[in-house]
Amino acid sequence: MVIAPSLLASDFGRFAAEAARADRSGAEWLHLDIMDGHFVPNISFGPEVVRVVRDHFTRFLDVHLMCDQPEILLEPFVQAGSDGLTVHVELHDRVTPLLWKIRSLGKKVGLAINPPTNISEVKKYLPQIDVLLIMTVNPGFGGQPFIEECVPKIQQAAIWRRQEGHRYRIEVDGGINDTTAKECARAGADTFVSGTALFKKPNLGAAVRRMRKLTAAEGGHLPIP
Ligand code: DX5
Ligand code: ZN
Repeated sequence: MVIAPSLLASDFGRFAAEAARADRSGAEWLHLDIMDGHFVPNISFGPEVVRVVRDHFTRFLDVHLMCDQPEILLEPFVQAGSDGLTVHVELHDRVTPLLWKIRSLGKKVGLAINPPTNISEVKKYLPQIDVLLIMTVNPGFGGQPFIEECVPKIQQAAIWRRQEGHRYRIEVDGGINDTTAKECARAGADTFVSGTALFKKPNLGAAVRRMRKLTAAEGGHLPIP
């Protein structure tokens, strides 16, 4: 299982210290939400924050681009130290060139899907991706409640992965806490983004270990990309 604290829920005045805290927690990934104020009604942080974080988090930087024009952002985020880049299937006919571009930059390829979008929209991209990011809240803000109706999408993604022999990780993002993480693991998720339920805890390491233990007890295991 992979636990990915989301920096969006960290102390914005202490990004370096918060990234170091996440590193000490043993979290396999650190999730970085990039918001442009167009694709989502919020603005978060850019490549320079990733560059700061890169010096303090030694494992996988999982960059989630909630942006209308990721084409112009891929290279700056790669140069800043990103390990994986995720774009949204809601970008429609621009998705394929974006996935190819991320691959050509030598990074892990992620595709995200919003709650209202039908899971069938991602099917044709599955052979090309390393991570399928199933949003369990409408993107833009941390601290929102988990949307139960997204769980069948996790189950469908797990069925397709098994039936067609794909290797993508199934990542869930939004309202993930110990309870919803267990539910998502049971449905087939193996990678858990969590902001409020992890970063706000005084002992992040204990919270990460607890979520990993709970999810491992519920679901399968996949090698970490
Ligand atoms: C929402 C972001 C999520 C968010 C998760 O648009 O994509 O990664 O930071 O935060 P919580 O865990 O608080 O819902
Ligand atoms: Zn995210």
